[in-house]
Amino acid sequence: MFIWSPVRNHMNTTPRYCSMTEAQELEVSGEESDDETANSSSATSRRLRHQKLALSKTKLKKLAREEQDRQQKLLVVQAFHRFYESQYGDRWSKIFRALQEKPRAACLVNKFADMAVFEETMKGVANLRRLSFVSVPLYECDDRFPHPERDDRNVYTYYMLDAASVLATEALRLAPDDNVLDLCAAPGGKSVAILQHLNLPVGSLTANEVSNDRRRRLWKVITDYLPEDLRQHVSVTGRDGTQWSQPNSFDKVLVDAPCSSERHLLQNHEELSKWSEHRTVHCSKRQLALLNAALKNVCIGGLVVYSTCSISNVENDKVIEKALRKKKIDFEVVNDSWLLGEKTEYGWIVLPDTSDGWGPLYFCVLRRLA
Ligand SMILES: C[S@@+](CC[C@H](N)C(=O)[O-])C[C@H]1O[C@@H](n2cnc3c(N)ncnc32)[C@H](O)[C@@H]1O
Repeated sequence: MFIWSPVRNHMNTTPRYCSMTEAQELEVSGEESDDETANSSSATSRRLRHQKLALSKTKLKKLAREEQDRQQKLLVVQAFHRFYESQYGDRWSKIFRALQEKPRAACLVNKFADMAVFEETMKGVANLRRLSFVSVPLYECDDRFPHPERDDRNVYTYYMLDAASVLATEALRLAPDDNVLDLCAAPGGKSVAILQHLNLPVGSLTANEVSNDRRRRLWKVITDYLPEDLRQHVSVTGRDGTQWSQPNSFDKVLVDAPCSSERHLLQNHEELSKWSEHRTVHCSKRQLALLNAALKNVCIGGLVVYSTCSISNVENDKVIEKALRKKKIDFEVVNDSWLLGEKTEYGWIVLPDTSDGWGPLYFCVLRRLA
């Protein structure tokens, strides 16, 4: 497997990054004398010459392409590490290790379902613990949660998601009668969390998602978690959130913006090989446009929560900084503190190295002033 690991070079100065196979080879080979190195390298080149003669031109071209591809991936990974090391310094190696762990899932109880079914499912779950850093019933356990069951009304009794995601929805300070817009809503975990605070139909939710495929998933989640008679109070829309224009219409807006999703990248090496610093800058432009749209559409005095699952400051505090610098709408940053995570310049971040594996999740609360 192609795993990446920081290693020290022979001068023992700055760390560099190499593939796990390279790291293992370095460990196995150990130190060699100059003579041994010269002998083994001439033997190697003889062997390679022999092999080359035996290989067809097509095979050689294929090998050269593979090698080029490998080198390219290595360069991307080195750039990735340099970028985050410059932001997090010595802490980066701990964050990196924590991000490579399998993401954790907590279980958010669905208040619209029959609790007797929930309790029955949970009977077999070892060491179920309620998480105290949010107001809604959210649980963790020692092992994996079973797949949720449906109740008599065909509604699932719980939703599994990262506990830090629930924290971002708590930051909206939802009231039961709020009219809420979830601007980037698919697949729908945070919409389900928002619904737990609302008293439908007095309160209402508009869940928006621009991608057709992802909107279908969002609609499925809404139908899986809300009884039929309440679904009419949730609108699922498919607009480009940056163009949303219904000024002063919502009490609360959540902008859970598309982002670099580094934890996801680290679980998928093909995706990781597409990373670039340019990509995080590109994401931040779209994020700023979404945030400005949210500020325009929230009521005066209403709250916007901007969130991402990125660990890049360019996509987090820097987006808020730009919005503050080029204020199109008058707003202020609300300073909150939470029991999980840590403060950043403008907002809050949950990083898995210090938050029991939860996260990453960044969020910032903004109040529209005029
Ligand atoms: C981070 S995900 C949202 C996750 C979701 N809030 C949840 O908790 O399940 C961001 C979503 O924004 C969508 N998106 C991207 N650009 C958008 C735009 N211009 N307007 C609306 N949605 C957009 C993406 O397709 C993606 O589904």
